[in-house]
Amino acid sequence: MTYLLADDPIDSLDRYLGTDTGGLGLAAAVDLGPQGTIELIGRSGLRGRGGGGFPTGRKWAGVASQTGTTHYVVANGAEGEPGTFKDRELLRHNPYQVVEGLIIATFATGAAEAYICVKASFVEEVERLTRAIEEMQEAGICRDCTITVVQGPEEYLFGEEKAMLEVIEGNAPLPRLLPPYEHGLFATAPQTGWVAKDPEPGQTGRFESNPTLVNNIETLANVPHILARGVEWFRSMGTDDSPGNVLCTIVGDVDSPGVFEVPLGTPLRAVIDLAGTPSAGVKAVLSGVASPVVTAEHLDVPLTYEHFQAIGSGMGAAGFMVFDDTACMVEVTRQASRFLWIESCGQCPPCKTGSGEITERLTRIEAGAGSVRDITEIGGWLGKVTDGARCYLAVEEQVMVASMLRAFPDEFDEHLTGGRCPRPRPVELPKLVDLRDGVATYDRRHHLKQPDWTYLPDPVAP
Ligand SMILES: Cc1cc2nc3c(=O)[nH]c(=O)nc-3n(C[C@H](O)[C@H](O)[C@H](O)COP(=O)(O)O)c2cc1C
Ligand code: SF4
Repeated sequence: MTYLLADDPIDSLDRYLGTDTGGLGLAAAVDLGPQGTIELIGRSGLRGRGGGGFPTGRKWAGVASQTGTTHYVVANGAEGEPGTFKDRELLRHNPYQVVEGLIIATFATGAAEAYICVKASFVEEVERLTRAIEEMQEAGICRDCTITVVQGPEEYLFGEEKAMLEVIEGNAPLPRLLPPYEHGLFATAPQTGWVAKDPEPGQTGRFESNPTLVNNIETLANVPHILARGVEWFRSMGTDDSPGNVLCTIVGDVDSPGVFEVPLGTPLRAVIDLAGTPSAGVKAVLSGVASPVVTAEHLDVPLTYEHFQAIGSGMGAAGFMVFDDTACMVEVTRQASRFLWIESCGQCPPCKTGSGEITERLTRIEAGAGSVRDITEIGGWLGKVTDGARCYLAVEEQVMVASMLRAFPDEFDEHLTGGRCPRPRPVELPKLVDLRDGVATYDRRHHLKQPDWTYLPDPVAP
């Protein structure tokens, strides 16, 4: 059963309210009250779909109980992970369930205001979302709540929660030190290490941490369904530790890339089949660039947080990049490492320098000009790239590159000893700008992006 991606896109509030659950989740939350709502979400076992799989009820309870007079809620729709398109598909299909989930989260945590963050380049999704919010406000569904749509930059770090709060405050996407529940939006508490700002209008306390909840928009989209249909219904899908459905993006060496809604626990191979398994056979699958690679012997891994952890990987945001037997995994590693190096903000020198040094050596090896010493030096940098890291990006570089070296030693060896790449077909990191009707469009400008976040002139631009 699918419930997040309706058969036909829901393009008006009337249609949404005419569905089995539209509006009923909020009504149930109001009946339960904030505490009861948080408890129910906790019992449902819902886990965050933004990548980490953190239990949502526990996060809500933590933010709600954190001291500070003003609380905020942020919906994360930045969707910057390569190979991921599910948040945009969700907004195209049914933005109303996302807004209803956000209103419920705002109510449950006692938040004063809510923000929905998407990239400015997501033109169609911004338009649908804005219309949904306006319609729901006009209908009185969120009469007392202020929801602001924030159109953010292209940078990968925009989706990192500590950087997202900076963007909402009008700054560049540089992750701050403390997590959002300790250093929330418009906080004014210098004693914990951040710059004091003028109090917000109406704020009475001098130093405020303004605990802020950040949830992925797929996480929030689940919330009204759970409240409307109940915990047992939600737990009838998926596993005990990972209940419900999940939206998977499947791209790369498949016939018909797309976004598929499946119950958690579905084997990875079965989801890849939905997109048309490559005839050359699947060699590897990367879940974004944030987790260790999944190799062919693990293709039957059930899609759950616990099963992916058990095979030494991570489900991430369930955006799967499939590579068939003809792909060069050294080149895949180089491109993924370059992506992380370019997107690193440089606030923690080992992250920016380390990912750059690793990328330089991978580039040499891929070109057939590398040596065993390059591999040794990559190992050395992998040991320090995370030193003092403020955010998880540096860990992504560490675990992703290390897993590739471990999984494909023969391919690295072939490049060191043979010179030429034995698999010279092009591969491209699927940073998606569109995915519809089985056609994935990649962001080719990313090749032109430089480590200082400027772009080289596009040689094929008109
Ligand atoms: C470099 C980086 C990029 C991220 N990008 C996104 C993103 O685009 N969307 C998202 O929901 N979470 C992203 N995250 C995870 C968020 O920081 C945060 O954990 C998530 O939004 C929490 O939502 P959840 O509890 O509902 O999963 C990113 C994390 C890192 C380290
Ligand atoms: S770990 Fe890297 S990306 Fe994250 S804040 Fe530090 S330098 Fe920036």
